[in-house]
Amino acid sequence: MAARSARWHNALKLALQSEEGVKNVFQLATTNANNTAPHVRSHIIRDHIIHPYFPSLPLLLTTTDIRTPKVTQIESNPNHRVEALFWIKATNEQFRVSGRAAIYPSPELQENKGIEGVGEVYDAFRSQGWDWERERQRQFDNVGAHMRASWCRPVPGSPMESYSDAEKWPVKVAKPGEEGYDAKNYEQARGNFALVLIDPIEVDYIELGVMPNRRTKFVKQDSGDERWKEVILVP
Ligand SMILES: Cc1cc2nc3c(=O)[nH]c(=O)nc-3n(C[C@H](O)[C@H](O)[C@H](O)COP(=O)(O)O)c2cc1C
Repeated sequence: MAARSARWHNALKLALQSEEGVKNVFQLATTNANNTAPHVRSHIIRDHIIHPYFPSLPLLLTTTDIRTPKVTQIESNPNHRVEALFWIKATNEQFRVSGRAAIYPSPELQENKGIEGVGEVYDAFRSQGWDWERERQRQFDNVGAHMRASWCRPVPGSPMESYSDAEKWPVKVAKPGEEGYDAKNYEQARGNFALVLIDPIEVDYIELGVMPNRRTKFVKQDSGDERWKEVILVP
């Protein structure tokens, strides 16, 4: 059992807290289906999921529309490898987190596009009866009505005739009990909403706020008390 949280993760959480203005944005990189080109886009980190038995092995939580190309890209990568990049201007730090992605879509999807998380952390959650669908619902209800409406649009990335086509789409999707609630829109948005979890394997941490600058590679170990081997690198 790993006893304490990872040094890189403490640094990341502190750095995220010190951000001003738009917070929690990172870049998520994937490889395309035939592994010939990278793709990268901005995402929001919504939570850090930590099992009490594995405080040093956090899962980074973001969310997406199950219909976006990134989902197919992640699925077609043999180990569902992704890279997440955080640049925190306030602290002058960069965190490059390489890991495996798991995707939890609506259980009602006929064609299940989900990728179950594998490994000891997911096993521990599973044996505890942890319910990823409940987490998905919690995250869905936590976002704003404007954001929820984005999951009622046609397939992201598909061509449209003109910008004005967008005027027909719902602007807000309220939750049950809220003013303007529309069950059809709410269910449609909920059906397209998916959790994306990143299970970190290696972290490249660059500190440009200290002189001389520091760069440290953290490599996840399969067992032992120290779950992250630290290697000091030339920045
Ligand atoms: C600041 C910012 C934050 C974003 N956050 C997310 C996010 O958390 N999840 C998401 O699916 N898309 C997010 N997007 C949109 C994505 O960058 C991207 O355009 C969209 O998901 C389609 O990605 P894909 O075609 O590469 O799959 C964000 C965009 C910006 C500019």
